[in-house]
Amino acid sequence: MASSFAVCRWTQIFVRRPGGETRTGREICSHQLPLQRENAPQGTHVVVEFANRESVASLLEEAAIPSISHEAVVPFKSRLLSLKKLGSLDSPNQQSGQQCKPQTSIPINELIKRLSREESIDQQVTSLTETYQLTEENSRLRFLVCSLLQDIAAAYFPECTIKPFGSSVNGFGKLGCDLDMILDLDGISGRKAKTPKGGLSLEYNLKRANSERAVTQSILSVIGECLDQFGPGCVGVQKILNARCPLLRFAHQPSGFQCDLTANNRVAIKSTELLYLYGELDPRVRFLVFTVRCWARAHGITSSIPGAWITNFSLTVMVLFFLQKRSPAIIPTLDHLKNLAGPADKSVIEGNDCTFVSDFSKIQLQSNTETLEQLLREFFEFYASFAFNKMSINIRKGKEQNKPEVTPLHIQNPFETSLNISKNVNATQLDRFVALCQESSWLLQQSETNTPSLHSKGGSPTPWGLATLLLPSQVGGIKSRKKRRLEPASVRIKSLLESLKKS
Ligand code: CTP
Ligand code: MG
Repeated sequence: MASSFAVCRWTQIFVRRPGGETRTGREICSHQLPLQRENAPQGTHVVVEFANRESVASLLEEAAIPSISHEAVVPFKSRLLSLKKLGSLDSPNQQSGQQCKPQTSIPINELIKRLSREESIDQQVTSLTETYQLTEENSRLRFLVCSLLQDIAAAYFPECTIKPFGSSVNGFGKLGCDLDMILDLDGISGRKAKTPKGGLSLEYNLKRANSERAVTQSILSVIGECLDQFGPGCVGVQKILNARCPLLRFAHQPSGFQCDLTANNRVAIKSTELLYLYGELDPRVRFLVFTVRCWARAHGITSSIPGAWITNFSLTVMVLFFLQKRSPAIIPTLDHLKNLAGPADKSVIEGNDCTFVSDFSKIQLQSNTETLEQLLREFFEFYASFAFNKMSINIRKGKEQNKPEVTPLHIQNPFETSLNISKNVNATQLDRFVALCQESSWLLQQSETNTPSLHSKGGSPTPWGLATLLLPSQVGGIKSRKKRRLEPASVRIKSLLESLKKS
C-alpha cells in the first residue's frame, strides 16, 4: 500500500491521492516516512497548506473510518489521514514527479567531503550550518505535530495549546533534533479574577491537588495514556513524571520526530526566546553554535542518550559566554538585556526574574570584526584553558563567577539562577571536552590543516580545516580513542544511572 498525507495551515493532514490534485491546498513539504515498521504505511508524506478551514472540512467529509477485518480500531478522528491505493495507480513519486526533500541530516562522512571542497574555514562553517539547520518545511512540520497533539489534549482541556520550544524554534535546531513541546494551560479563559457582579462571584468547581507539581504530573499522566491508546502515530509513550521537570517522551511516527511533552514549563519558553534573540543579533552566533554542536556530536561529547554527557543546551550557553567574553564583546550580557527591557517585557515566573528586552532595535552592538575562523580557533583555546575547577560560566554577568558547588562543570541557568544546567556532567566527560578543545586548537594552528585541499583521494577531496576537526581519527587522539574502547557499555550505563539519580 502506498500512501501520502498532507497538511494545511489550519493543520489538516490527509492522504493525497498519489499524483492527484490537491484541489484545495498547496503542497509545502514532502518526505519519505522516516520510521518504517512492519505494517506501517509506506510512501511519501505530503504536507499541504490550505487556503481556508472550509476546504479542510469538505475534505474531511469524504474521509471514512477504515474497517479492517480481524482488527478493531479506535475511532479517533485525527487529522492524519491516509489514502488507500485502489486499482492500479502508479506509485506517488512516479505520478507526481515530486522531489522529496531530505528531512534528516546527512551523515558526517558526507559532510566532511562537502566541507573539504570549500575554499576557506569561514565558508566551511557557513556550509555546515546551511546543511544541518532546520528547513522551513521541517519547522512547519514541527508546528503541525504540536497542533495534532493539541487536538488530543483538547479532549480534556478545550482551550489548551501545545507549543514547541527548545532547538525546534530557538534558531539552533539541526535536522533530526527532538521536538520539545509545552502544554500550555495558562491561556485558558477565566484565569483572571473577574470583578464580582452585585456582590456575587461565579467560579468553576475544580479538583484540588497538593501542589502544582502534582497537578502537572496527573495531567501529563492522563494525556500520556490518551496518546498511547488513541494517538495515531504516537508510539513508545514513556511517562517520566518524577524528573525535575515531568515529561512524556514518545515517537511521532508519521513525522519521525522524537517528542518530549512537558507542562507548566514557562521558564524554558523564556530561555528559548533568549537563545533566539542571541542567534538573531549577529550571524556569527548561529554559525559558531552549529559548528561546535556538530564537532561535539562527531566526537561523542554530546549524545542522544541521556547521561553524564554535556548537552547541546549547555554547549550553546558556553558558546554565548565565549562570545560575550570577546573584546569587544560580540553579544551583550543578559543583565544588559534586562536593563534595556520596557514595562511590557517584565516577566517573573515562579519567583525567577525572566525579564529581558524584546525590542531588538534597542540593542546596540559593539563593532567586532573577528572572522569565523578566528572565533573557532579562539573558542577551542578559551575552553582548553578555562578554570573549570573553580569557575562557573555565567551569561547573565558575562563573566566567570566562583563556583557555588563542587560539580565538575558549572553553568548557571540563565533564569533559575540557583540551578546548574550541566549538573549531570561528570569529570570524565568534562576532561574529554577539554582534551578535544586542546587538540582542535592545536590542529587549527597547523599549516596543513589550514590549507584548502588541492588534490583529491579517489575522487574525494582531502579533508582540511573544519573537515579535519570532524574526523574521529584526527581529533580525540590515539590515547583517548584507546581509552574509549576500553570503557564500553559499563561507562555508559554508569553515566545513565548517575543522570537518572539527578533528574
Ligand atoms: N532547558 C533548560 N534547562 C536545562 C535543559 C533544558 O532550561 N537544564 C530548556 C532549554 O530552553 C532548552 C530546552 O529546555 O533549549 C530543550 O532542552 P533540550 O532538548 O535538552 O535542548 P535543545 O536546546 O532543544 O537541544 P537539542 O537539539 O539537543 O534537543
Ligand atoms: Mg531539544
